[in-house]
Amino acid sequence: MNTTRGKFIVIEGIDGSGTTTQANRLVEYLRTNGKNSILTAEPTSGEIGRLIRKFLLHEIHFDEKTMALLFAADRTDHIEKTINPSLEKGEIIVTDRYYLSSLAYQSTGAETTFIENVNFYHVLPDITFLIDIDPEISLKRKTGSNEFYEKLELQNKIRKNYLWAYEKYKDNHRIVLMDGELSIEEIHREIIRVSQSLMIF
Ligand code: ADP
Ligand code: TYD
Repeated sequence: MNTTRGKFIVIEGIDGSGTTTQANRLVEYLRTNGKNSILTAEPTSGEIGRLIRKFLLHEIHFDEKTMALLFAADRTDHIEKTINPSLEKGEIIVTDRYYLSSLAYQSTGAETTFIENVNFYHVLPDITFLIDIDPEISLKRKTGSNEFYEKLELQNKIRKNYLWAYEKYKDNHRIVLMDGELSIEEIHREIIRVSQSLMIF
């Protein structure tokens, strides 16, 4: 039995920055190279995640403080059901969005300390890649989608919040900033290069 704890890698960024694309590419790369790897995302596909999706699709509305609690509850469920069991099995778990999303998105309407407090006990990733990009570019990639946060003014605030969180947490939480204007392939190669240099895999 494999008793070595696995690794937890998170991909973050504003809508259209490429988090889903990069999380998929990374898991594909890891599997091709013989590593046991799983891909997950937040909001999850569980019951709490489904409720959150109704909010994102404008079917129900909650204030950002309530959203911070819902995302934190979804995260706890995600940790208990998937993240911790995967790490115990020695797998590399790649997650499309995690705690940093709550800090960046929910602090558009809730206090940062409230969001920090409700996420305090959540397991920390081994590394987080934050894809930074101008919303004028990333929103154009989201044509046909009209989710709650996908508005230019809001995305500009969310980007600022991400960069604030990066400055505050980059060392303790090991966050690496990526240039989102690079090509999909260039960002992918940089994620692999940095992960290898920091002995993540
Ligand atoms: P997110 O999950 O961050 O909202 P996606 O990964 O779904 O974004 O990407 C949104 C769209 O942008 C997709 O069509 C994807 O192919 C494209 N895309 C992603 N990354 C890049 C990139 N670096 N350059 C150009 N297009 C990209
Ligand atoms: P999703 O359709 O999964 O977008 P993407 O493919 O871009 O990741 O939508 C997730 C949305 O939820 C996205 O706008 C970010 C937001 N979100 C928060 O506001 N707080 C959070 O804690 C998380 C995990 C996501």
